[in-house]
Amino acid sequence: MAETLHIDPSAGRAERCEALIPQLLALTEGEPNFTANQANVVAALREALGWFWIGFYLVEGEELVLGPFQGPIACTRIKKGKGVCGSAWAQNQVLLVPDVEQFPGHIACSSLSKSEVVLPFYREDVVAGVLDIDSEHLNDISEAEAQALQKMLQALEGRI
Ligand code: SME
Repeated sequence: MAETLHIDPSAGRAERCEALIPQLLALTEGEPNFTANQANVVAALREALGWFWIGFYLVEGEELVLGPFQGPIACTRIKKGKGVCGSAWAQNQVLLVPDVEQFPGHIACSSLSKSEVVLPFYREDVVAGVLDIDSEHLNDISEAEAQALQKMLQALEGRI
């Protein structure tokens, strides 16, 4: 198991995220516990990419329940279709929100959060939860970064 992340500080965030993929595959190799793997994934993303809040919400019935995260304390449960997280789940799509105040129904776990991306992840083609990333800056998450994060989640399918 790799214990140190190799991160090129001169690379952009999308590039750094892509470079994390093989490292996360090595880190989660042979580990069947989803929680342990999710915990390492958010820690690695925080270390490599440095956003304000990075965490998983997990599907439980008709709600999302807070999973492993890095950052300040957050809302514990979000109903399907509510907020950016519940909407990404209900619509089964990535939601990139450059200004959270412009997103009707956005759930403000922290008033410092200004922009956000939420990406569903899957187990056997069913949404198992979402990865939520918040920035304290407006328009701080790019399409390229969202795509790199989606690629990472796809690579980790079955492990998280
Ligand atoms: N803003 C999210 C809630 C989760 S927190 O940002 C950690 C939403 O609207 O669903």
